[in-house]
Amino acid sequence: MHQKNANQPAATGQKRPRNDAGNKVTVVLGAQWGDEGKGKVVDLLATEADIVCRCQGGNNAGHTVVVDGKEYDFHLLPSGIINPKSISLIGNGVVIHLPGLFEEGDKNDKKGLKGWEKRLIVSDRAHLVFDFHQVVDGLQETERQAQEGKNIGTTKKGIGPAYSSKASRTGLRVCDLLGDFKDFSTRFKNLVQQYQSMYPSLTVDVEDQLKKLKEFAERLRPMVRDGVYYMYEALHGPPKKILVEGANAALLDIDFGTYPFVTSSNCTVGGACTGLGIPPMNIGDVFGVAKAYTTRVGIGAFPTEQLNAIGELLQTRGHEVGVTTGRKRRCGWLDLVIVRYAHMINGFTAIALTKLDILDVLDEIKVGVAYKLNGKRIPHFPANMDVLQKVEVEYETFPGWKTDTSAARKWNDLPVKAQNYIRFIENHIGVPIKWVGVGKSRECMIQMF
Ligand code: GDP
Ligand code: IMO
Ligand code: MG
Repeated sequence: MHQKNANQPAATGQKRPRNDAGNKVTVVLGAQWGDEGKGKVVDLLATEADIVCRCQGGNNAGHTVVVDGKEYDFHLLPSGIINPKSISLIGNGVVIHLPGLFEEGDKNDKKGLKGWEKRLIVSDRAHLVFDFHQVVDGLQETERQAQEGKNIGTTKKGIGPAYSSKASRTGLRVCDLLGDFKDFSTRFKNLVQQYQSMYPSLTVDVEDQLKKLKEFAERLRPMVRDGVYYMYEALHGPPKKILVEGANAALLDIDFGTYPFVTSSNCTVGGACTGLGIPPMNIGDVFGVAKAYTTRVGIGAFPTEQLNAIGELLQTRGHEVGVTTGRKRRCGWLDLVIVRYAHMINGFTAIALTKLDILDVLDEIKVGVAYKLNGKRIPHFPANMDVLQKVEVEYETFPGWKTDTSAARKWNDLPVKAQNYIRFIENHIGVPIKWVGVGKSRECMIQMF
């Protein structure tokens, strides 16, 4: 059979469809181990956004936003929910614990965040986290502790077990809950049985759970859409500002993070495409958020950790306490090896450097610039945790500026020593710093360009 050469020019006069790329989305991602201040950066951009989306993770995330002296913490709701003019979307890549979602909404409603249910869209392809997933999360942590002498330090929000159900194709999605409830109930019971055969101590009041789920289903129904089509229309309709709010962070990514001490989703840029069903060509700016030092919640290697007075000072001055679990965050110097690694994966167009003000009182400030193994610099970020535990960090030391920066609103308001610190970071990562954070509130952000 004669085959047409794909490279042949189109026949004269033949009309070809035009590939209209459509609107671009702006993605905000954590460049360290989480809690870098993504919520605050999203809030800043969300004031002008039409749609703010979450694409991965669940209520393991805890994003703080401070507006007009009021502090909000968001876990499943996109931080853009605060803007009455924008739509918030929970994409297919997110795992949703319905009691958690409504509890969060109701709590914020009491704080004055009215009408959130009307501004929220939920993808019908998103997977559900059930109460028993959360119980299993706890059981798995106990098992890890017993078998290996250490656990992961998860948030116990059921994230790992829910993504496991998704990957093993026994999970249940929003569309299943809203479909034939009899069929949903059968699959729910099978899933419970599957977990009970693995964890005989697991007790589940199936009928009570189903009753509650049925109620949640009706409250959820008006918000549910085909997420892929919703995003397609948003990308190809009139110009729109669309924002994607990353949860967790690069070093917690299931593929690229410090495995196994990671979360169970892709918190890097690919997660925006798979978690919303949008093509890579629609990804526009990718903003990385990094703190001016480093923190980590939970277990795992942390090369620049300071188990000393410096670490304690960063913890107390920075109020480094987990938003979701209330655990103290481990603290250390800024590690530029990990931020560069996050940039290799995400291709940041610019960085938001947050919490510079926390360093205001230090006499000198160190920055990790390279890792050495057996005295030799290594160019990559080690995959193996035993290796990462052994690396020796090479530091660059800067004099502290010893000045309160919290009132600075433009570059020239910053002390020269702080400017030098920022410029060094920018040059070392090879990405421009677009914002510098000097306080919790919305206005405490210096925009550089
Ligand atoms: P996220 O998970 O990345 O959204 O970050 P979290 O909300 O978990 O943690 C960041 C914390 O730092 C929150 O308490 C924020 O209010 C606070 N924060 C964010 N940016 C700044 C900043 O520039 N300076 C200070 N002092 N606090 C900040
Ligand atoms: P945000 O979005 C900080 C950590 C947990 C634990 C590991 C696995 O606020 O930056 P999981 O419950 O996800 O199975 O826990 O990942 N972790 C986070 N640490 N900030 C987060 O989110 C986190 N989400 C998960 O502490 O070590
Ligand atoms: Mg957080």
